[in-house]
Amino acid sequence: MTNGSEKLWGGRFEGKTSPAVEDFTESVSFDYRLFREDILGSMVHAEMLLKKNLISHSDFVEIRDTLKDIEKEIEAGSFEFDKKHEDIHMNIEAALIDRVGEPGLKLHTARSRNDQVACDLKLWTRKSIDSVVELLRDCQKALLNRAEALSDIIMPGYTHLQHAQPVLFSHVLLAYVEMLERDRRRLMECRCRLNVCPLGACALAGSGLPIDPDFTAEKLGFDSPLNNSIDAVSDRDFAVEFVYCLSMIIMHLSRLAEEWLIWASHEFDLLDLDESFCTGSSIMPQKKNPDVLELIRGKTGRVYGNLMDLLTTLKGLPLSYNRDLQEDKFPLFEARDEVGKSLSVFTQLISSTSVKTKQAESACEKGYMDATALADYLVCRGVPFRESHQAVGAIVRHAASMDKKLCDMTIDEMRRFHELISEDVYDVLGARNCIENYCSKGSSAPRLVKEQIELWKEKL
Ligand code: ARG
Repeated sequence: MTNGSEKLWGGRFEGKTSPAVEDFTESVSFDYRLFREDILGSMVHAEMLLKKNLISHSDFVEIRDTLKDIEKEIEAGSFEFDKKHEDIHMNIEAALIDRVGEPGLKLHTARSRNDQVACDLKLWTRKSIDSVVELLRDCQKALLNRAEALSDIIMPGYTHLQHAQPVLFSHVLLAYVEMLERDRRRLMECRCRLNVCPLGACALAGSGLPIDPDFTAEKLGFDSPLNNSIDAVSDRDFAVEFVYCLSMIIMHLSRLAEEWLIWASHEFDLLDLDESFCTGSSIMPQKKNPDVLELIRGKTGRVYGNLMDLLTTLKGLPLSYNRDLQEDKFPLFEARDEVGKSLSVFTQLISSTSVKTKQAESACEKGYMDATALADYLVCRGVPFRESHQAVGAIVRHAASMDKKLCDMTIDEMRRFHELISEDVYDVLGARNCIENYCSKGSSAPRLVKEQIELWKEKL
């Protein structure tokens, strides 16, 4: 048991802290991950204290140099954390005081762990946003590379998971690039809202000492200092928003994973996943399982859980700091870690996956995916769309009963359903013709998809 007086906050305590309470309240076992941000924040805070003559130059130098040493030790794994000091903030401060004495005792002037932890978390989240943005970019690049390499492969486009209309495989890949682009922008917007510095809020009310929050904010790369000290220590919106952004990313990855799982099945047989991204079965010797994709889909539940966790922790919390806020770290860290890992493994998997070109092409023969093109053909000859839809529906029904493709039907057979069908109809039938005839903006037309590929190459 540690005596109250051994604590940095021990002055008003006579008795000792129960070991059960030390175990229960400590956070250093998980918030040690904030050590870089904590040390950076402390160095800038000390610099501000120096600027405002609240500490001397030699105090500042001792604080700065010792904090640097501590950072190196933590990085090297040789620093000893002690749960007696609760969290990363007090572990570092206690070590500083232990090493330099009086100058160390001055560091916490005009600061509370409440604004300190808010600042550390914002710095950590900002850095995490930047690295997830990079991972998204890598993933987009991998998709784009595949889109370029596989630019003329056609495949069935699905609605309701049924053959719908033929599309270019590269068009599908670029759809994923668009999804991830929205994710990237969402993160950037979250970063803008986050980038307000809470330092100077102290416990909740600010300080009577002549501090300079503009200085600390600027030095730490924030766009502005706090406007309201109570809000500054209470706010965890940035954490919720970040985990929400991560939830959207993993939701997108999960949709992509599900799609590829289906396409890699024997029933669809459109994709060949590289062996290095598959695992075997302990009993069935023939198996080559797509576990990576399944795990990405599976992790989605955890990340959504992290979002719900954070929202629930915040629900009903009165202003300003409450210890409940210490629980924000688990969901924040876990969501970032899981999404980061999922993104980087998915990026590698994308680069190693090949399309079964022949199967994709022959899958396009089935399912009357050129029926819409035939309906449009009649529209071009003046037939109202609803009328041509009816006629083509009847043609499809007839063709299906004879197990024929539309392009295998004779003109006479087709004309029985609509007299405006003539020889040139064969120019619109068949998957290749469909693709070649697309022309609307954003469509699967080869020329437009190539244009999009070039645009993305510039952007990324
Ligand atoms: N470990 C705490 C947390 O993560 C730091 C702030 C503690 N503040 C306090 N007043 N007990 O939230």
